[in-house]
Amino acid sequence: MSNTNKTLAPSTSAEFGIIGLGVMGRNLAYNLADKGIRVVVYDPFPEVRDSFDPSVSAGGPNILAAGSLQEFVQVVKTPRNILIMLKAGEPVTAMIQKLISLLTRGDLIIDGGNSYYKDTERRAVDLEARGLAFAGMGVSGGEKGALEGPAIMLGGSKAAVERILPIMKTISARVGTRPCCEVFGGGGAGHFVKMIHNGIEYAEMQAIAEVYSILRDLMGHEEHQISTIFKQWNEGPLAAYLIEITADILVTQDPDDGMPLVGKVMDVAGQKGTGLWAAQSALELGVPCPSLVEAVVARGLSGLKRERQLAAETLPEPSVEKTSGCSLPMVEKALLTTRLIIFTQGFALLRQAATTYGWPLGLIDAASIWRGGCVIRAALLEDIIKALESDKDIPNLLLAGQFKNMLVTGVPALRAVSSAALMGGVPIPVLGSALSYYDSYRSAHLPANLIQAQRDCFGAHTYERVDKPGTFHSNWQVPASQKKNNPQ
Ligand code: 6PG
Repeated sequence: MSNTNKTLAPSTSAEFGIIGLGVMGRNLAYNLADKGIRVVVYDPFPEVRDSFDPSVSAGGPNILAAGSLQEFVQVVKTPRNILIMLKAGEPVTAMIQKLISLLTRGDLIIDGGNSYYKDTERRAVDLEARGLAFAGMGVSGGEKGALEGPAIMLGGSKAAVERILPIMKTISARVGTRPCCEVFGGGGAGHFVKMIHNGIEYAEMQAIAEVYSILRDLMGHEEHQISTIFKQWNEGPLAAYLIEITADILVTQDPDDGMPLVGKVMDVAGQKGTGLWAAQSALELGVPCPSLVEAVVARGLSGLKRERQLAAETLPEPSVEKTSGCSLPMVEKALLTTRLIIFTQGFALLRQAATTYGWPLGLIDAASIWRGGCVIRAALLEDIIKALESDKDIPNLLLAGQFKNMLVTGVPALRAVSSAALMGGVPIPVLGSALSYYDSYRSAHLPANLIQAQRDCFGAHTYERVDKPGTFHSNWQVPASQKKNNPQ
């Protein structure tokens, strides 16, 4: 039962405060309390406060539940550490506004939600000008992660993050003895790293869904068979949390009829914005991340359910037989290669952000903490760490010696699987974009010369030449009199 209706004794105090008792907030509270940290909690919604039950946690006696924001603030020991776990956007802004009038100089607000990093930057400047400290904290791992140990990506002023780092390391996941918690720089750095985590998460989920479709629609496997395939893949180099849960999902039955439950799920993917922000940042920072972008586009296309249903009745399907020349080992290699290319894009984006924003954002640190607790944890991260350790300035992970053999066999597999999917009419936005990224990146010559000529032709945008220095403009247009069947 909730104890939120009782007023806390004035003498009670807590080391840490959490506002927001949704899935993540309450499980972080249990996690802190389990580690012996006394925590006071509050939620702006009375029904959420009333549904909160500290006694479900072994650390329950360490949790105090406040019935008002004023009471909550009084209970947190000064200088206060207050973690906000609310929906990104307006709810966070509104809560910070309320807290400003209740807090005193030196208190620290930590935003642990999936906030947009530019909001975090702005809030840090505003709050620091008022004498309050602010940290942006990306938390990954969902309900289980929050309870048992999430990956934690911190950003904020040195004083702010150093104050909470020991506590956050205590509650984070661990790989060996290393806590999956790191500081990535000032202001919005932590939320930026979490946003890229989510961009990778979107791309990885879409790639797995594409492979599911290839195995089902092209190769004729049923859900329970695909589950077994994923289970086996999870024993090898493809091992990853998302592969593990996919294997579980595919054998989950609808209790009504024993059929695969996944087949009853509406094929419209939701999104809360972090994948979109990652794609936007890639475009803004000029870092090519086509697979991160395509994953967001794919969710958008899934949302056109009614239109797709109508189009399915009228637009022709490919006439080729839906049999595939792919083998399971080829599909496995294709997915692993796609994963490598997705991570490559994500790490390139992290590298550019570090330069643009002047963050001491460690790529090895990101790879290391993503090995535990978080949604994108994968065996491949061990190789990524080795690659970065051999050359921390490597401009692109595809150039690392560690991946040479993987690419030698993986890229042909990705080509074969992608070709079969394209010929069979199975959409592969992420697999296809990963392959095109690879082919573009390995090409010393791209057809961008033609784009430059087109720009110069219609807009006198000028161009550079390969055979001499300088900036050029040419008259490209063939006189109308010399053209036959001029479309004008
Ligand atoms: C995590 C996840 C999590 C995210 C969900 C839903 O690392 O635990 O990234 O933070 O909120 O995955 O995201 P979408 O609703 O945008 O798919």
